[in-house]
Amino acid sequence: NVYPEAVCICKKFDLSDAQMQEVVSRLTEEMTMGLTKDTHPRAVVKCWITYVQDLPTGQERGKYLALDLGGTNFRVLLVDLKSETEVDIQSKIYAMEQSLMKGPGKDLFDFIAECLANFVQEQKVENEELPLGFTFSFPVQQLGLANGVLVAWTKGFSCEGVEGRNVVELLQEAIVRRGNLKINIVAILNDTTGTLMSCAFKKLNCRIGLIVGTGCNACYVEKTANAQVYEDYQTSSKPNMIINCEWGAFGDNGVLDFIRTPYDKVVDKSTPNKGRQTFEKCISGMYLGELVRLIMVELKEQGVLFKGVDSQLLQQKWTFESRFLSEVEADPPCSYCKTSKVLDEYGIRCAPDSDKACVRYICETISRRSAKLVACGLACLIKRMNNKDLSVGIDGSVYRFHPKYHDLLIEFMQKLLGPCFNFELVLSEDGSGRGAALIAAVAAQK
Ligand code: BG6
Ligand code: GLC
Repeated sequence: NVYPEAVCICKKFDLSDAQMQEVVSRLTEEMTMGLTKDTHPRAVVKCWITYVQDLPTGQERGKYLALDLGGTNFRVLLVDLKSETEVDIQSKIYAMEQSLMKGPGKDLFDFIAECLANFVQEQKVENEELPLGFTFSFPVQQLGLANGVLVAWTKGFSCEGVEGRNVVELLQEAIVRRGNLKINIVAILNDTTGTLMSCAFKKLNCRIGLIVGTGCNACYVEKTANAQVYEDYQTSSKPNMIINCEWGAFGDNGVLDFIRTPYDKVVDKSTPNKGRQTFEKCISGMYLGELVRLIMVELKEQGVLFKGVDSQLLQQKWTFESRFLSEVEADPPCSYCKTSKVLDEYGIRCAPDSDKACVRYICETISRRSAKLVACGLACLIKRMNNKDLSVGIDGSVYRFHPKYHDLLIEFMQKLLGPCFNFELVLSEDGSGRGAALIAAVAAQK
């Protein structure tokens, strides 16, 4: 008993089984282009090599620093790998002004160095010259484990003077400018890689790292021989290479137009990276709330939803936060307790239950499509590896806080993969801490 006008709009977001299979097969093609030397330069899904070729053995030990930039919070961490079961993590979140995300790159890196200096003093390790793993969660072309060039900002960042530059060098320069910091940057990594490593420390069959948070992306364990972009792909003694898919960009060449809706196009237009990160913009936390808001606005304009209610926030872009979807969808079927609270916070008071049911229906529609698309991505990776028994390490606010996301993912993956594949979806704790430290540990041994 949802308004028929809402059902009509939401149908546009409902992916059929055949469409999902088509998404899997198109992503498979795009990934092959990214991995293959000749087609890599024009590929959209870049499949960057990470130079991480070893999964953790559980024997890694020692103290490491880590930085985490690119998720909801900017954090500095001190990780002590004490034993297989004992990992001590101290961390601090540093509030970052919006202006730093859009200002000159130099200011951003000076801020990071300042936080680092502050943190090592607080932790009393300022004289130890610890190895540091830098989790930098943006598309980076890695030229070595501690050498990576930012290809393009995503997720609302747009600092000048960083794209096309070696990010490790920029951080090193900021450290030198301060003059009082002893730090040895030994690795740069993507959050997906940290997530995979952190999970693999506990689950030996972990082969995929996935983030469904502000952004969405995955990495997986590929055969080195298939990673043709790697200069030693034919001669390397190591059988594997972790590949950072950067699948958020999937569809930037139009191959997802068959499932995109007019609302996706409106969202894209109000982002700083128009025309890019097409797949991510249908999936991740940064965009889900805005999709819901646009549908609500349209239904209000049609005179269907929130009749006679004046909400100023509703008319303002980016005001419906993605955490609202998690809250609304946490209500049991016949109760609107959490939905009422969300609407209240959003300035919409005294809406009838039929409106609340409609809001919930819209949220569910947007979350379901997001989970279906992530399931397509995972199915593509699992089929590609042809691994019949594996774990997927997952992190990110959408996966962590949405009450049904985990179950939805399993349902859709089973549909796509059939009964022959066994998989487990595991919440991966602290990829940017434990994961970064594990990579730094391997790097520091070399
Ligand atoms: C965190 C990881 O928990 O999840 C980060 O430690 C990662 O490295 C983040 O970037 C992603 O989620 P969100 O929701 O903060 O973007
Ligand atoms: C964006 C970034 C990617 C990151 C993901 C999740 O897609 O480009 O590097 O892994 O967000 O944070």
